[in-house]
Amino acid sequence: MRLKFDKKVLEKESQVTPEEIFWNRRRFINNFALAGTAGLITGFPGMVQSQSNVIVGEELRDELSSEFVITHHNNFYEFSTDKKKPSEMAKSFKPGNDWQVKIEGEVNKPGTYTLEDILKHMQVEERIYRLRCVEAWSMVVPWNGFQLSQLLDWVQPTSKAKFVEFKTLHDPKIFPGQKRGIFGSHTLPWPYSEGLTIQEANNPLALLATGVYGKSLPGQNGAPLRLVVPWKYGFKSIKSIVSIRFTETQPECTWNKRLPNEYGFYANVNPEVDHPRWSQATERRITDNSFFGVKRIPTLMFNGYGEQVAHLYKNLDLKRYY
Ligand code: MTE
Repeated sequence: MRLKFDKKVLEKESQVTPEEIFWNRRRFINNFALAGTAGLITGFPGMVQSQSNVIVGEELRDELSSEFVITHHNNFYEFSTDKKKPSEMAKSFKPGNDWQVKIEGEVNKPGTYTLEDILKHMQVEERIYRLRCVEAWSMVVPWNGFQLSQLLDWVQPTSKAKFVEFKTLHDPKIFPGQKRGIFGSHTLPWPYSEGLTIQEANNPLALLATGVYGKSLPGQNGAPLRLVVPWKYGFKSIKSIVSIRFTETQPECTWNKRLPNEYGFYANVNPEVDHPRWSQATERRITDNSFFGVKRIPTLMFNGYGEQVAHLYKNLDLKRYY
């Protein structure tokens, strides 16, 4: 099942690809699309795929976002609520392979592992995913990372594990945003935490990212290890992970705890369920930092990944469980 899936859907390359090559390819995508040959390499709607050094996008809307915007327009509230500031403030936050991750709870191989230990057992690959923020902006990001299910196979959750909880490092010396109230007198409940069902965590799309554009993850993007769940709103994709806990019950998640009427546990991208304060029907796709790099496009159910994930929710009322 996974093999077939990998072949058909996922972006995989044997080598890391520097940005210049992506940009050349991007021109290639445009040329091909204009020549009417888009869709030559089939995928699911809008997916960008590569084969023999060629990427053909089904739609121009899926141009890669530039490395600059991906690394200079960030949500990382531990640094700041201003999207431009994390790239400045994270300059001295450069964790390495000695970064420690605790594997805890309902799992057969609990322990504290360095990222280096973990990576020895994982196959890192490249995947291009859309990232749709709940604030209605989006990007297309070439991540490097490994499938979360590989980690699960390695650490072996017990049969009692129904959920996975992730936590970000809590260290106000590194993250000044953890010191003060960021919404007037209120603050977020630190450490930032997020969760998935065990089925979601095992879905082949769920990725633990270690890099972007073929380079190690910069601090502002969640160095050195962050979750990427592209069918969910971006806030589920927790950064700078230090703990992965397997639980029997649904874990508390930062935004859900802070504003439960606005942010649900599932947080699947859904153009039919509006945020109480704004519509989710469309999104601003940020491609580069020029005026023309921002266009408004319709939002797709599950961010366009329904073929891969809709079965996870077939018995769930998505209006109620937003
Ligand atoms: N993880 C932590 N620890 N803190 C955050 O503030 N912001 C989330 C998510 N992960 C956030 C986080 C939100 S709202 C989004 S949209 C994405 O990270 C943004 O990821 P990016 O900055 O790499 O684009």
